[in-house]
Amino acid sequence: MKIKNICCIGAGYVGGPTMAVIADKCPHIQIDVLDINENRIASWNNPDLGELPIFEPGLSKIIGRCRGKNLHFSNLLKEKISKADMVFISVNTPTKKRGLGAGKASDLKWVEASARQVANYSRGHTIVVEKSTLPVRTAEAIKIILQAAKETNSKENQSTFDVLSNPEFLSEGTAINDLLHPDRVLIGGENHKAIDALAEIYKNWVPENKILKTNIWSSELAKLTSNAFLAQRVSSINSISALCEATGADIREVSRAIGADSRIGSKFLESGPGFGGSCFKKDILNLVYLAEYFGLPEVATFWNEVVKINNWHQHRISKLIIKKLFGTLSGKKIAVLGFAFKKDTNDTRESAAIQICKDLLDEGSQLIIHDPKVSPEQISNDLGLNQNSLDSIKYPGEGNWCFADEVEDALIDADAALIVTEWPEYTKINWNNASRKMRKPAWVFDSRSIIDPKDIDKEEINFWRVGDGLN
Ligand code: NAD
Ligand code: UGA
Repeated sequence: MKIKNICCIGAGYVGGPTMAVIADKCPHIQIDVLDINENRIASWNNPDLGELPIFEPGLSKIIGRCRGKNLHFSNLLKEKISKADMVFISVNTPTKKRGLGAGKASDLKWVEASARQVANYSRGHTIVVEKSTLPVRTAEAIKIILQAAKETNSKENQSTFDVLSNPEFLSEGTAINDLLHPDRVLIGGENHKAIDALAEIYKNWVPENKILKTNIWSSELAKLTSNAFLAQRVSSINSISALCEATGADIREVSRAIGADSRIGSKFLESGPGFGGSCFKKDILNLVYLAEYFGLPEVATFWNEVVKINNWHQHRISKLIIKKLFGTLSGKKIAVLGFAFKKDTNDTRESAAIQICKDLLDEGSQLIIHDPKVSPEQISNDLGLNQNSLDSIKYPGEGNWCFADEVEDALIDADAALIVTEWPEYTKINWNNASRKMRKPAWVFDSRSIIDPKDIDKEEINFWRVGDGLN
């Protein structure tokens, strides 16, 4: 099977960068990235490459090279799917908000809608590729939908399908590098011809020994398990950071010491404000749901603890700030530095900043929030609260927030600064100058360990950082 035309349903954080890299590496393939969200498509087509809908280092250059040549963004689902030899499904799969499995299971309504679109519009033989992260055995549901379409199709349109699982392992902020140099590409499926057709595409830039072929269920489960293991490492190190603070140990030294063991490895051992991002929590909850569904409550409880510790850790940080500021935040100004769930992305989904800011607002604090890539509108949505000028407080003790364009502005008259995202620019703050702007006694809370304690004059500013038992 030679693939000439690819469609991707879903032009999000995965669909956009993934298809851009395939287009760049495979100029012989025409790629259409499709979305029902017209604004998103318009942004992908924006002539100003600084205005793409997602911020991802290196992405705009690739879009500049391929867009309009072999990479196209549109909402022409019917027309483009009908011409495609291969359709990637890369739509959102958030946790279900209501109904059976609410709060844990993935909501598959967008995946099902995509499968129906493929069923209705495709012609001839189409390879359908699950790119979204899906519960084990979703491919079965997709197959049933496609099969049903085949049976109802007219005689002239006897379309046929293969379904493959090809989960994505990119991380936001390093997506382009992850796509260009993946640790592995995983392809799960039954039909070897279809698997090989997809592998041929990756072989244009990925060494063959990195392309793993498995059965479809292993592939689906490997993706959930991979995220669960990564999140579990973050929860593990964060839980130990609390113990460090209680005992006089230092989490950075503990991480270095355990990471030097080649069986453990040094990555994903940085204590922070708690993991965020659109996937860790939802994928673990999905795993928990599957374990419960298959009658394995002990397995479910084990993984659920990873999420519980993460929630606890985020609240632990806000409680600690309240305690250090004499048990009350009423009317106090706190500069929140960073709102994205990690550096190098404008994504705020499940960011620790959301929970921590909500806790601080509940205590009546005045937050001045800065982030180099997140918009004030996004922060309003996440906090469920519009920004106000901080002078417009109606009732003393009422929580309020406003956006600061510059870090320096955020620090004026602040009682405390809290670093939530590890943006490099926050490592360059001159704290001795900043101290002159802040109200005394002033505090700096570093939940990312990006400040060198030597850069802070402890006579002038009180300093706390995560997992530092000498705080
Ligand atoms: P996203 O919300 O950024 O993008 C999904 C897009 O799909 C949206 O633009 C939405 O409008 C579109 N869409 C939904 N239903 C559609 C339909 N029927 N037809 C056309 N368009 C439709 O989501 P994302 O972050 O790109 O994640 C997509 C999937 O990839 C999820 O399953 C996620 O778990 C997985 N994943 C995400 C990441 C990540 O870093 N964000 C990494 C690996 C895997
Ligand atoms: C994660 C996985 O790393 C990807 O492999 C996966 O494809 C993706 O989820 C997904 O399925 O969506 P991502 O969420 O983009 O990628 O970012 P990570 O780098 O994994 O970070 C997740 C969270 O953990 C961030 O809040 C980050 O700050 C935090 N983290 C990470 C730590 O607190 N400490 C660490 O040592 C590492």
